[in-house]
Amino acid sequence: MPRRAASAPPPKGLTRPVKVCVRVRPVLEREVEHGTYHGCIAIAHERVYISTEDKPVLIGSKDDPLPEGIRAYPGFDGLLDQDASQEDVFQSAGREAVDGVLLGLNAAIMAYGQTSTGKTHTMVGDRTRPGLCLKAAGHLFSEAALCGSQIEVQASFLQLYLNHITDLLVADGHERSLKLREVVGEEATDTKVEGLSERLVQSMDDVAAVLEEGNRRRQQACTALNASSSRSHAVLILNVSLWTGTRSDEEGEAEATVAKLYLVDLAGSERVKDSAAAGDRFTEAVHINKSLFALQGVVAALADGKPHVPFRNDPLTQLLRPALGGNCCTTLVATVSPAQRHSRESEGTLNFASSCRRIRGEAAVAVFVNSVKKPRPWESAPKAKEEAEEVAECPWASLATLDGSHKEDQGISCGGTAPHAWDKAVAYYSRATICCAGSKWESSDEDVLLHALLLGLA
Ligand SMILES: Nc1ncnc2c1ncn2[C@@H]1O[C@H](COP(=O)(O)OP(=O)(O)OP(=O)(O)O)[C@@H](O)[C@H]1O
Ligand SMILES: [Mg+2]
Repeated sequence: MPRRAASAPPPKGLTRPVKVCVRVRPVLEREVEHGTYHGCIAIAHERVYISTEDKPVLIGSKDDPLPEGIRAYPGFDGLLDQDASQEDVFQSAGREAVDGVLLGLNAAIMAYGQTSTGKTHTMVGDRTRPGLCLKAAGHLFSEAALCGSQIEVQASFLQLYLNHITDLLVADGHERSLKLREVVGEEATDTKVEGLSERLVQSMDDVAAVLEEGNRRRQQACTALNASSSRSHAVLILNVSLWTGTRSDEEGEAEATVAKLYLVDLAGSERVKDSAAAGDRFTEAVHINKSLFALQGVVAALADGKPHVPFRNDPLTQLLRPALGGNCCTTLVATVSPAQRHSRESEGTLNFASSCRRIRGEAAVAVFVNSVKKPRPWESAPKAKEEAEEVAECPWASLATLDGSHKEDQGISCGGTAPHAWDKAVAYYSRATICCAGSKWESSDEDVLLHALLLGLA
């Protein structure tokens, strides 16, 4: 069975540029106080239903005509209801993107929605409920460690506040507004943030420290709709190099895939009447709404295949250009409130999410030959190895089929019979991967893989 070379094309399905998930957050206390709460959202029949009038959401069977005042949104890639855990969100909205990064595909995960719908909760979370940023980083490190591949991750963290981009990893970063520069490449036009700092991160703890430090400097404030409302858009960029172990010459040069993972926590749109914004809060709301309007314009132009896409209309769309119009697989997590009083905003979010689904394109794999001598596998990332060992499962147990069921019913038992040499075997989406003693094997044919495993041939 051939080992996948770093320059081989990525599996189909991983390269669709925009994947869209919808997350409905649970009802908040402030929404039920005074006994006036009416719900407006339901997930059923693989659709999101929304009541646009003040009526209960009544849903019959899938083919029944929709009652008046109810709209249905089909076709999303992931639907996460009020009971979805942070892990459910990672599995649905994050994992595929991070797996793509390990294959050398740029990826972006972006939370979009009205204020107080759970974007920061989804992307950042808290100590007990870590969000997508930390889960994505953990997956990067554990996958690389389990495959015995050397990984190097450089983190940058910035915010766009009013019209200024500032570095969240520099103590006096707020005093210096960073400039954007367009870099025209063969595949797509990239945007560089000039002077943005990078920090080497070698474990989930390091990434947690970066998040904590940056979030302390991020602009947040209390509004009538959210006690800690993000007043800036924040982007965590993980620059990932993965050495696959393929020696390109005898001097120790090794082939590596390089890819960027953008983790974007947007500030939320708000109706100033509802958020009671005044003074600085009002100025912030105007900038936030203006930049999100520009984002909608860019997505509409991309979805309609327009020859001109207005990326330059706003610093936000310039900044996100590599994630939206470039060589990148993007996952949008559209967050909505379940409350009837916000149904108009939720409808707007669902309309935007539907437009994102229509963006077409293809990402490519970036490969370069790194001339740095490859160190011994764990020399640079001892913490990552420990973390990976903690999450390592029995390889047979993690050999899951596409629908998530296990192969036990086909005579493969979980437990002590598995050869110890196998580090990990997983099958997801369009391919299966087996990692063994520093090598990585891939196939789109699960039966071939299973056979090879059983015979100890792979
Ligand atoms: N899935 C969830 N489970 C539990 N609590 C949640 C969930 N989503 C959001 N919350 C809570 O709702 C409140 C608002 O969430 P959050 O601050 O993440 O919203 P936001 O979309 O980032 O808002 P803003 O645009 O104002 O920054 C917080 O108290 C958060 O803890
Ligand atoms: Mg927020």
